[in-house]
Amino acid sequence: MSADKQTSWSYAEGLPTEDEVLLRARERSFELGVASISPGVAAALTVCAAATKAQTVVEIGSGAGVSGVCLLRGLPDTAVLTTIDSDVDHLRAAREAFHDAGIPGNRTRTISGRAADVLPRLTDNAYDLVFIDADKQSYLNYVEQAVRLLKRGGTLIINDALDQDRVSDPAIRNETTTILRQVGKAVRANKQLVSAMLTTGNGLLVAVKR
Ligand SMILES: C[S@@+](CC[C@H](N)C(=O)[O-])C[C@H]1O[C@@H](n2cnc3c(N)ncnc32)[C@H](O)[C@@H]1O
Repeated sequence: MSADKQTSWSYAEGLPTEDEVLLRARERSFELGVASISPGVAAALTVCAAATKAQTVVEIGSGAGVSGVCLLRGLPDTAVLTTIDSDVDHLRAAREAFHDAGIPGNRTRTISGRAADVLPRLTDNAYDLVFIDADKQSYLNYVEQAVRLLKRGGTLIINDALDQDRVSDPAIRNETTTILRQVGKAVRANKQLVSAMLTTGNGLLVAVKR
């Protein structure tokens, strides 16, 4: 990356101003050892949620609620976020963040469990937006499930899709990077999806189901 590009990336990541609610959620993430989305991704999620006017959203990987709050802030007041996490302490922190953000309880459905077990129980073609930010080893499965869950016109967003700039380097072949490379290929090859790779954060792969 040229020095100018690096500077522009840092500049863009530094633009969002986050309020007390998000800063507290980030603090809880840190205490729990959860890697929350970057400020640039946080802002992009709110914009995508607002642009899609999604009513039904699935999040895979609640963490301490940073991404959930950002999604909910962009969604219409009637939208419901279903968020899945296998760690009960993370889910508790996410619920606290939703409460701090003044989100009514009936707008969030928090599900404790492994996403690979939970996702097959969710209804086909019923969701407007799916956000993936959990265990990378399972991303290919999550993408497959997301395509099943999404309505036509629904949006898929995959966080960390460039894996700290490792995906673009073919010499790097560790398991996580290889999986994320395969995820990118699978999304681009899927005729049901149109996609774009955004360089926000660690890469945000955005796709729409035709
Ligand atoms: C990177 S963090 C999510 C951060 C969150 N999206 C945010 O920005 O606030 C990944 C989360 O995925 C959860 N996770 C890991 N493996 C999982 C699995 N198999 N099923 C469901 N959740 C899982 C972890 O407990 C963790 O909370």
